[in-house]
Amino acid sequence: MLKHLLWTECASSTNDLIKKYPANSVLIAGIQTKGRGRQGRDWLSVKGGLYFTYKKPLNCFLENLQGGFCAITIGAACHKALTMPNKPVQKLYLKWPNDLLNDKLEKIAGILIEVSQQNYLIGIGLNCGSNPEFANYQSLYSNLYLAKLIINQIDLFAQKPKADIIEYWEKHTHHKKNTQIKAHLPNGSLIEGKFKFLGQNGELWLQATADNKLISLESGILQD
Ligand code: BTN
Repeated sequence: MLKHLLWTECASSTNDLIKKYPANSVLIAGIQTKGRGRQGRDWLSVKGGLYFTYKKPLNCFLENLQGGFCAITIGAACHKALTMPNKPVQKLYLKWPNDLLNDKLEKIAGILIEVSQQNYLIGIGLNCGSNPEFANYQSLYSNLYLAKLIINQIDLFAQKPKADIIEYWEKHTHHKKNTQIKAHLPNGSLIEGKFKFLGQNGELWLQATADNKLISLESGILQD
């Protein structure tokens, strides 16, 4: 459970700066000068967005945070926090493994999960400034409040039965069964196929276009 809530006006990356703080801390930054995305990409972190990292010990014994399923759990928890009743973001979709898309299918949030010194560093970035729904939201609540809402849902989702999380993800994903998807893999290759289902470990199952074989992806970035 959350112990320390820290705020700084500027960080290189909250995923880096959090390393000097104890486990169960959350660090929020007003801007980041070296914000990082998945697969070595940059994450533009200008004023107005929400950028924070939640540091959780690896040995928290929460099955939902183990391996690839962690990304699914965190994505689903963020989705829940941002779409709860009376929240202005009502249409939000999950894109594998844990991006959040608005109703125009534009990415409005991304999550970078890293492991350092026996801790998960769960980094979350929300493009509040560029999204009118969030601008609306921010006039009502502070970024601090929004971060607390998300952290609260992460702690709740971490304890839910795994089946409930898969059901939640499948209900709120924009991926439709048998639709074509392309994935950029960490080794630089591109794979194409039909989306089939989300596996028990958070992996994405596809039927490959090249040979019709059923294959699973553990990580990757799906092309829009
Ligand atoms: C992605 O979709 O590629 C993941 C983006 C993650 C961005 C967040 S912002 C807070 C934390 N600090 C970083 O440098 N990155 C993550």
